[in-house]
Amino acid sequence: MRIDVVTLFPGMFDALLDYGITGRAFDQGSLVVNTWNPREAADNRHRSVDDRPYGGGPGMVMSVAPLRATLQRIHAQTQQRARVIYLSPQGAVLNQATVTRLAAEPHLILLAGRYEGVDQRLLDRDIDEECSIGDYVLSGGELAAMVLIDALMRWQPGVLGDAESVQQDSFSHGLLDHPHYTRPACIDGQAVPPVLLSGDHAAIARWRYQHALGQTWLRRPDVLQRLSLQPQDKRLLNDFIDKFI
Ligand code: ADE
Repeated sequence: MRIDVVTLFPGMFDALLDYGITGRAFDQGSLVVNTWNPREAADNRHRSVDDRPYGGGPGMVMSVAPLRATLQRIHAQTQQRARVIYLSPQGAVLNQATVTRLAAEPHLILLAGRYEGVDQRLLDRDIDEECSIGDYVLSGGELAAMVLIDALMRWQPGVLGDAESVQQDSFSHGLLDHPHYTRPACIDGQAVPPVLLSGDHAAIARWRYQHALGQTWLRRPDVLQRLSLQPQDKRLLNDFIDKFI
């Protein structure tokens, strides 16, 4: 997968290249990320990329010309037009379904805005989709773009080992994750649930699934409501509620 990011702060993306699974994805070449600074496409004397808003008010607005020129430079490099995503709090809130849909694209362009936002005419003509990472405001789209890249990268073939498989991620089945434990079996009087020490793989799988259902019921009833639970799932959940609540 290729991702081009249009950003005034390309250096921020070094954090992705240097650490953990994202770093490994770059090393393997499973994911190629290029950054483009729109300042380089600004043809005015001061290389400015923003201007005062029409109608007045505080802050600055990112101008059309340097952003459009940057996008055109990226499109000129490829035969198939890449999907262009603008990260902003006005976008549709990112979820696992959007991540899996976008992960199937061979090439994406992410536009990270700064200041009060981007001139609407760029959004109207040059952007395919607007995406938010949550109902709060960041000082720019860079961190949001990195969140999206991290989530996308997990779905690229060969990036995760078996142990880290996306199939085991929370939300890959639409549920929150079950709790996890490691050694020692007892610490400061806190014991690991005995079934996890039993070696009974079917019982362990059942316990994990039951706790995934239970955690989702407890913490995200909105998520559970959107799923159609089978009768056996409902029984497992009722049993969780009787036993653990
Ligand atoms: N830019 C600023 N805030 C944002 C958010 N919540 N999501 C995506 N991009 C943003």
